[in-house]
Amino acid sequence: MSVVKINVLNVPAEQREVLEQRFAARAGSVESSDGFEWFELLRPVEGTDTYLVYTRWRSEEDFQAWMEGPMKAAHQGGGDGAPKQKPAASGSTLWSFEVVQQAAPKVKDA
Ligand code: HEM
Repeated sequence: MSVVKINVLNVPAEQREVLEQRFAARAGSVESSDGFEWFELLRPVEGTDTYLVYTRWRSEEDFQAWMEGPMKAAHQGGGDGAPKQKPAASGSTLWSFEVVQQAAPKVKDA
């Protein structure tokens, strides 16, 4: 069963652009991590002020393995060993879910 891990980021209005730029320049290593299934950066439009970093993994173990290794390198803000920049987010919370059901569009005949 897949697991969904959502990092909830509190981002002050004046930091939104900084946050999005950092993600635009993200390491891109998560795509190559074992068991990685999906990533989305979700910008709030209505109902909340928080950005969501949505990730889905084949298993809890795959997520933990990413957290212990590649995740740390991907959060250095460039990965060249430079000192960490001031965070764009003022706070973060990790939400964990199990996928109970899912659906995808039916493939239509051409
Ligand atoms: C401690 C709080 C965290 C903050 C403030 C934060 C913020 C950020 C930022 C600004 C980036 C863009 C790259 C950079 O500038 O480093 C990034 C990348 C990313 N973050 Fe986080 N993050 C945190 C923890 C987490 C956690 C717990 C997850 C797990 C879902 C996560 C998932 C990701 C992913 C998947 C990327 C893209 C990595 C890649 O491209 O390989 N982050 N994060």
